[in-house]
Amino acid sequence: MTNYKIPVIPGDGIGPDIVAEGMKVIDAAGEKYGFDVDWINYPHGADHYLETGELISEDTLRELGAYPAIYLGSIGDPRVAPGILEKGILLAARFYFDQYINLRPIKLLEGVWTPLKNKTPEDIDFVVVRENTEDMYIGIGGRAARGASQKLLEVKRNLYSAKFDLDIDTDSEEIAYQIGMISKEGTRRVMKYAFDLAQKRSGHLSSVDKANVLSDIYGFWREEFESMADNYPDVETDFNYVDAITMWFVKNPEWFDVVVTPNMFGDIITDLGAMIQGGLGLAPGGNINPEGTSMFEPIHGSAPKYKGQNKVNPIATIWAGAMMIEQLGENEAAANIVSAIERNISEARVRTYDMGGSAGTSDVGDEIARLVLEE
Ligand code: IPM
Ligand code: MN
Repeated sequence: MTNYKIPVIPGDGIGPDIVAEGMKVIDAAGEKYGFDVDWINYPHGADHYLETGELISEDTLRELGAYPAIYLGSIGDPRVAPGILEKGILLAARFYFDQYINLRPIKLLEGVWTPLKNKTPEDIDFVVVRENTEDMYIGIGGRAARGASQKLLEVKRNLYSAKFDLDIDTDSEEIAYQIGMISKEGTRRVMKYAFDLAQKRSGHLSSVDKANVLSDIYGFWREEFESMADNYPDVETDFNYVDAITMWFVKNPEWFDVVVTPNMFGDIITDLGAMIQGGLGLAPGGNINPEGTSMFEPIHGSAPKYKGQNKVNPIATIWAGAMMIEQLGENEAAANIVSAIERNISEARVRTYDMGGSAGTSDVGDEIARLVLEE
């Protein structure tokens, strides 16, 4: 029997509730497909931070680096200022493990309600490949008070006031800035993953940018995309400005098969994607480093107000668990979990409130685990 050791970070808010259901379902799949899992619990999150002052230490990260996959619930708590836990734990892990692919399937399952009128599961079935380590997320930025901001304001003045004869007072303005950066290597590796994925799917890859305005950074992105497309003559490609793609996701989701996007835009368009596939309760994601340590999580947050209430939908997390065991090579078990999720929904069995039902989080996990064993 294959044995896997998988670290679990349940995290904050509803994290522990939903991750418990994911573990339950994976354990059931293991029973059926002949593997078992030792779950190794890590307490990182708000409580741990408030008790010890530690977010996640380098020692812990190094220790986690011994495993191919981590299972994560959700991070974020109202007792801690926004961004501290998210940056200190979630982004820390994404960066430390260089999880440069954020894979987010946008797939409307059979039986799920979508806000898009007349769209069916056939129409909404694509994958977003979000770059996950660069762009506006590199964390370089700051604020500057009067005077100190001279340099950047001069740049601004040179660009605009010289051109249009405006009078910008560089001494009196306060500024805040955030630098976005993409590298050739960082761009090409995620694009290569997306092209390879497109080849395995329908051979259509869409790229997202804003090369018309943020032309330094996203013009570069577009050039790399075009140059890589030459190596994949069998993949049909197109470019989309990020603002326009939000419109197309709503109007013609059937156009898309694989979408590759810089980090910041990927963050935004995948919440939109989650909504068209039935809501955040149904949207899984994987932070992937194919040669290193990957991390799987629902794309939603920690919904603190539902903490411990056995109320929220665990499906995104269970589905993320399926992605995780697929990454570990348990393809059949992973496919079975997704089909058990689908059966539970389409046969209108056990649903949480967001899907119009009244079942609890654990009821959904129980039912999906049961279906996994039954199939
Ligand atoms: C996501 C989240 C994170 C992000 C936050 C919590 C840091 O919104 O996974 O999409 O911005 O990437
Ligand atoms: Mn997000």
